[in-house]
Amino acid sequence: MTTKKHLQVALVSSMIAGAAWAGYAFADNLASTPVAGAAVTVVAGIPADQRQLVQQGQYLASAGDCIACHTAKGGKPFAGGLGIASPIGKIYSTNITPDKDTGIGNYTLEDFDKALRRGIAKNGVTLYPAMPYVSYAKVKPSDVKALYAYFMYGVQPAPQANKAADIPWPLSTRWPLSFWRMMYAPPVVTDELSASNDPVLRGKYLVEGLAHCSACHTPRAVTLQERSLTDDGKWFLSGGVIDGYLAKSLRGDANDGLGSWSEAEIVELLKSGRTAHSAAFGGMAEVVEDSTQHMSDADLTAIARYLKTLAPVAAGQKAMVYDDSAAKALRTGSGRGNGALTFLDNCAACHRTTGNGYGGTFPKLAQSTTINTADPTSLIHLVLLGGQMPSTRTAPTHYGMPGFDDRLTDRDVADVLTFVRSSWGNHAPAVSAEQVAKVRRAVGAAGQPKRAEND
Ligand code: HEC
Ligand code: HEC
Ligand code: HEC
Repeated sequence: MTTKKHLQVALVSSMIAGAAWAGYAFADNLASTPVAGAAVTVVAGIPADQRQLVQQGQYLASAGDCIACHTAKGGKPFAGGLGIASPIGKIYSTNITPDKDTGIGNYTLEDFDKALRRGIAKNGVTLYPAMPYVSYAKVKPSDVKALYAYFMYGVQPAPQANKAADIPWPLSTRWPLSFWRMMYAPPVVTDELSASNDPVLRGKYLVEGLAHCSACHTPRAVTLQERSLTDDGKWFLSGGVIDGYLAKSLRGDANDGLGSWSEAEIVELLKSGRTAHSAAFGGMAEVVEDSTQHMSDADLTAIARYLKTLAPVAAGQKAMVYDDSAAKALRTGSGRGNGALTFLDNCAACHRTTGNGYGGTFPKLAQSTTINTADPTSLIHLVLLGGQMPSTRTAPTHYGMPGFDDRLTDRDVADVLTFVRSSWGNHAPAVSAEQVAKVRRAVGAAGQPKRAEND
């Protein structure tokens, strides 16, 4: 084969591989999985020299959120079987308990390392990149060792056979995956971090590696690899769509990134799932519940400090300034557009006519970086299906927002979001009924309600 042909084959196969997990959606996992720290009791009989390592590994497994993907709804922790939707069929996560017949009980440290950081299973096949090995490639060898100790000695073995993917032949052949891996997987790190205690370096290590923030927050190319796996350009963590939500930009932009967030607010969100002005929803609610709430304050501070070093995507965004004209119009009844009326009828009881909500309970919509994203996917999804804040140790109440899919038409949702995105100091592009219709279909919401004119 000529080099050119070779490249073509590689590209096409990597597109197949990419398609094999595009839309990578935790469809089966809408109910939250058990909390890693609480659900897993360290098994008796750990060799004395492994105890500390096992404990360290347990912490790292929470930071890596292994439980989120490797536990089916209502299933045994880490026994796999969670369906991850893709356009060509469903992929299932595997059993990573130390059961010798169905899990990874026979894996050596080297086998484990190869799967975790290189995406190659013990039997030599390449794993679907739904397993975020491109991020885990950055995990240092001593942490891999601790994780291995935890999975061998700290996790209860659970006999449960792996399920084959529901992908028809020939798309089910895995050879395109190895092309994809060869093209896009980064080399694994070999050196230990320097002894520096610089929290920014620690934050970078966690964000790029174990915590795999970029698996959701970095946009992907046509062939589905993340546009960047490290902060070498503006793509990294600049926002990606995952599971029907926009995992928004975490870069320094004031209006739609984290430029206006303090380090303490970022820590608070990761620890409790909410701040005085915002709340985690969609995939982020699960990340907080299963993973970040279990991380130490020092590590969360390191993550926040590192995120605050990321330059804005667009230079010169000005901070939003509160504007009270929408609140006044709502109060005096002069705001008569469908968007304003829909807001009064359906949203104002919680988010208030001022758009200020109630801190920690009903998030603020005014001057919100969640609301000012150019891409409205998350907002449409949330208004159609509603959401629940994560329940965490420091903020246990699951405050919820109802879904409006069976009450509001595509036009209503578009109008109310356009109103929200242009009031109280927000200034984001209008939302169209077509955009709402598209998300309504994609997330499996109820069809539009039938309503008489002017009702
Ligand atoms: C975003 C989802 C996701 C996360 C997070 C995740 N995995 Fe996976 N993992 C998968 C999927 C899906 C597979 C199966 C891929 C396949 O069949 O090709 C897998 C496969 C594996 C395998 C190979 C098992 C085998 O049978 O050979 C190991 C080992 C593994 N994961 C360990 C981990 C560990 C340890 C963590 C946490 C540090 C983790 N995974 C986090 C999705 C995930
Ligand atoms: C499974 C996908 C996923 C992963 C992994 C993930 N996020 Fe998110 N994140 C999202 C989604 C979706 C949103 C948008 C919903 C929201 O605003 O809560 C989001 C929003 C956020 C927000 C804004 C919250 C708000 O209220 O405006 C922050 C901050 C954040 N993520 C930080 C992180 C960090 C740091 C990591 C890595 C430790 C991470 N995320 C990993 C999906 C993810
Ligand atoms: C019963 C109270 C309630 C009502 C009514 C309600 N919401 Fe919410 N809203 C919430 C809660 C609670 C959250 C946080 C949800 C989560 O974290 O999953 C939220 C979150 C949001 C967010 C994301 C804010 C952020 O920073 O994360 C937007 C946007 C939003 N609501 C818009 C609306 C709109 C538009 C309506 C009317 C169509 C509405 N809400 C009706 C309670 C409500």
